[in-house]
Amino acid sequence: MSTYQDVTNDLYRSAALSPNVGLCCTTTPAWQLKDLHIPQRMLDMNYGCGSTVNQRDLANDPRILYVGVGGGMELLQFAYFSRQQGGVVGVDVLDEMLEASRTNLLEAAKTNAWFQPDFVDLRKGDALHLPLADDSVDVAAQNCLFNIFKVADLQQAIAEMYRVLRPKGRLVLSDPICDAGMPDSLVHDDQLRALCLSGALPLADYIQMLTDAGFGTIEVRARRPYRVLSPKHYNTDRLVYIESVEVCAIKDPMPADGPCVFTGKTAIYYGDMDFLDDHKGHVLFPNQPLAVCDKTAENLRNSFYEDLMITDSTYFYDGGGCC
Ligand SMILES: C[S@@+](CC[C@H](N)C(=O)[O-])C[C@H]1O[C@@H](n2cnc3c(N)ncnc32)[C@H](O)[C@@H]1O
Repeated sequence: MSTYQDVTNDLYRSAALSPNVGLCCTTTPAWQLKDLHIPQRMLDMNYGCGSTVNQRDLANDPRILYVGVGGGMELLQFAYFSRQQGGVVGVDVLDEMLEASRTNLLEAAKTNAWFQPDFVDLRKGDALHLPLADDSVDVAAQNCLFNIFKVADLQQAIAEMYRVLRPKGRLVLSDPICDAGMPDSLVHDDQLRALCLSGALPLADYIQMLTDAGFGTIEVRARRPYRVLSPKHYNTDRLVYIESVEVCAIKDPMPADGPCVFTGKTAIYYGDMDFLDDHKGHVLFPNQPLAVCDKTAENLRNSFYEDLMITDSTYFYDGGGCC
């Protein structure tokens, strides 16, 4: 009997041999950067649902790991920033996908003068048993692969990323999520799972899996509408709304009082004092917004300070603030 991984491998083997345009219907435009020219076949093979490439993660010549290479578009984008031999390691379980990526990167070398194919080290391997040493990369990324995994495999895949990251390293993820939960009728559909449609978890569960693995800081960087599965077309008796998220999990030590999860909340003090000090490391000056993690937001809210606004999560966090 075939497993969901066999079904997934069959789907992506065929998507490697012949581009399946719109397979993952990404809503994020490809990066537009000076002297970056992405070959059309790479664009056609964009099987992700967001972006994991962010200049903010890529200072100081990081060693980058990218798992689930697809057509190689994000490998090229990471290489744009790292520009060193073997600076980006790309791992995929399928020979056909590695070959498609290799071909596309050779094509990219013709139109990107800054790029040399040996900037990317393509390796066969499984996300569940990464072919890399402990503490060997600074940034690890995956786009639209982890949502396919069933929970036990997802735990293992996250643990593997944690293992290979150096302390302070960053795991950057882009995946579909489904806050209302997925109906059982769809959860057990292996083909839909392989298509990145029915493995989506609620965001809180997704984050919990990252913090359970030991990541002390989580940033929710983007959250976008993605798909609607309707009873007209899918085996469900209700509409299922799916979003895509971009999350960064940082291998910081776990704080004694629990992880810092930034979902885009901000504290603004608007009273008459010179500043408001919570004596836990947070000093708020009048009308100066302070980005706060959900834990700090909750602590401030529970302290019932006067003239303090805590905003809702924007799910658009781009650094700074408490912790
Ligand atoms: C949905 S595609 C995403 C491709 C790419 N990340 C992108 O954004 O275009 C999933 C990718 O993961 C690969 N893959 C599937 N199972 C895997 C596993 N267990 N370990 C490593 N790669 C896997 C597939 O071959 C495919 O390249």
